[in-house]
Amino acid sequence: MDTPLDQIALGDCLHLLRSLPDGCVDLVVSSPPYNLGKAYEARRALAIYLEDQRVVLGECCRVLRRTGSLFWQVGAFADKGSLIPLDIRIFPILESFGLIPRNRIVWARQHGLHASRKFSCRHETILWFTRSDDYVFHLDAIRVPQKYRNKTFHRGAKHGELSCHPDGKNPGDIWLFRNVKHNHEEQTIHPCQFPEDLIARIVLATTHPGQTVLDPYMGAGTVAVVARDHGRHFLGAESDPRYHAVALRRLRGEPDANQGFPNLKTLRDYCQRTGKPAAAYRFDVQVGEKPTDRRRARIYPEEHHRHEMAERLAYEEDAFAADIRDQERPGDRNRNGKRRSKGPTWFDP
Ligand SMILES: C[S@@+](CC[C@H](N)C(=O)[O-])C[C@H]1O[C@@H](n2cnc3c(N)ncnc32)[C@H](O)[C@@H]1O
Repeated sequence: MDTPLDQIALGDCLHLLRSLPDGCVDLVVSSPPYNLGKAYEARRALAIYLEDQRVVLGECCRVLRRTGSLFWQVGAFADKGSLIPLDIRIFPILESFGLIPRNRIVWARQHGLHASRKFSCRHETILWFTRSDDYVFHLDAIRVPQKYRNKTFHRGAKHGELSCHPDGKNPGDIWLFRNVKHNHEEQTIHPCQFPEDLIARIVLATTHPGQTVLDPYMGAGTVAVVARDHGRHFLGAESDPRYHAVALRRLRGEPDANQGFPNLKTLRDYCQRTGKPAAAYRFDVQVGEKPTDRRRARIYPEEHHRHEMAERLAYEEDAFAADIRDQERPGDRNRNGKRRSKGPTWFDP
């Protein structure tokens, strides 16, 4: 059996997985589809879905090398007001294959649908399991800035020396990469893409250059693009021909016959590489008249979103604390819209 490196098969992932030899990949990272279909009564649909996942995950585990890692990103199954976080159902399946849990990463968002009879969902989870205790984790490749960068020891033999790592800290298990929606450079016609930076963190932390990354549900090909850009091999499958075509166009990075690109990022990368003007091309989900080049767009790092979200949540909790004590709410520095609620809610600069 050969391993079809740097290819995305068009079709069912099980077909691809069953054709692969044991232990041929170093990392599996994926987000499976979880719109569970409405054809069955909900409980039965969920049971069938989980059984399908068991089969796919069993194959993923078989093809994973002994030193390899598996990252599985899921949200929740909602049905008529009830909500089942899928990771709590997937977790025992992975354990049953002898995999070892390492992290349950919370991928938090600021925006999303507003629920009226329960708390609005603002996170999904990513389960990380390894096949053995002998696994790769390159912390130095993924450090982020500390909150207090120049902290030193106050006493003892190390007095005056830096007490934190000079290159930054471990990013932790709460991630805030911005969802790929409108105004995101990477957005294609696919409704639920991974942000490239989220995949880059996983690939850089858990593989060496030249190793192989598998995504059985490739969608618009994010895992393939990131693996390739960081000098790793990729392979995977996608069953929908429209998304499969997008993934191949992203990887090719050249304009198609209509001078089109699958997303703004691929278009801008091409223009940056060739010196051609962005306005000469189009991209699939373009709304404005002309694409702009990268100099005219600000791309914020995860740290920016982390700060913005922490600030927002702290403000919302302070406002709530004031409401339940019948006190005046603090001013909102990010006033947005015209609505006024009780009391002098908004900050007037
Ligand atoms: C959540 S999306 C993955 C998106 C991907 N992470 C990205 O960044 O674009 C799941 C994808 O799995 C595909 N899919 C569903 N069932 C499949 C199967 N049996 N084999 C391969 N792909 C499948 C869907 O068409 C969908 O594009």
